[in-house]
Amino acid sequence: MKIHGRQGGFLNLPNDNIVKTIAVALLLCLVCSVIVSGAATLLKPKQVANKLLDKKANILTVSGIDLDGRSVEDAFQQIETRVINLQTGEYTDAVDAQSYDQRKASKDPAMTLPLSKQDNIAQIAGLPKFANVYLVKEAEQIQKIILPIEGYGLWGTLYGFLALEGDAETVSSITFYEHKETPGLGGEVENQKWQASWDGKQLYDDQGQPALGLVKGSVDPRAPNSQYKIDGLAGATLTSNGVTNMVQFWVGDKAFGPFLKRVRNGDVQAQREKIDEVHTAESV
Ligand SMILES: Cc1cc2nc3c(=O)[nH]c(=O)nc-3n(C[C@H](O)[C@H](O)[C@H](O)COP(=O)(O)O)c2cc1C
Repeated sequence: MKIHGRQGGFLNLPNDNIVKTIAVALLLCLVCSVIVSGAATLLKPKQVANKLLDKKANILTVSGIDLDGRSVEDAFQQIETRVINLQTGEYTDAVDAQSYDQRKASKDPAMTLPLSKQDNIAQIAGLPKFANVYLVKEAEQIQKIILPIEGYGLWGTLYGFLALEGDAETVSSITFYEHKETPGLGGEVENQKWQASWDGKQLYDDQGQPALGLVKGSVDPRAPNSQYKIDGLAGATLTSNGVTNMVQFWVGDKAFGPFLKRVRNGDVQAQREKIDEVHTAESV
């Protein structure tokens, strides 16, 4: 297409011509916006896949599973992904465990449970009816239980995983894969030494109530009740309180509490065996 027709045409207009300046600027904006939106659309599936891979890598880390030269996907085969009905604490097949998006469900009124402001100590957007759990098993016995946790810190919601031993009351590790806290202050939730200090801590007090939480300063391991205490994050009391609230919320009655109680009572293994029996009977 010729854009310089009669007597010199558009391109021959002087560069300080107002029409030429505006036309070139508009054309440039159009080209750039097409490139940017095209790139965003093309890269979206890759970004989603990378996010999922990062989540799996975090679950492996918190489970204490080494890659040993394997890909994340290969190593993740060791993890059993299940969905829990939070109210009953039972496994459910109501949604597909592999594709269930708990974060999306938390924002869908049809997929959430009522939660009063008073009970919502972690300040979550919504309490999903169903929640993912990740299990590491050996000879069908649960060795590790990985719970997705989230809650508000100072600047936004922190997302992470809490790993428990098979007894469903002893912590083995914690990790955070997304947050908005300040590096060096609340961002110290990523500090591996601090994360390692969660190993062996107890979730519940003698009355069975969630008791584990961060305290101001350092914890003396010989002090009474030190099994329920984690060092607070220096200069980040608000993030520290947020972490305490999110841990106590997710292991409490409104969230994974009923499921963890069933694991402690041995009911979960029994439920698994019942499902296996039904599947075997169906396939005969
Ligand atoms: C720039 C800036 C960033 C901050 N980031 C955090 C943070 O990520 N987490 C947090 O708890 N407090 C943060 N604070 C400090 C809080 O405002 C508040 O003073 C602090 O939580 C009190 O904790 P402390 O009693 O341990 O000093 C920040 C303060 C400033 C000025």
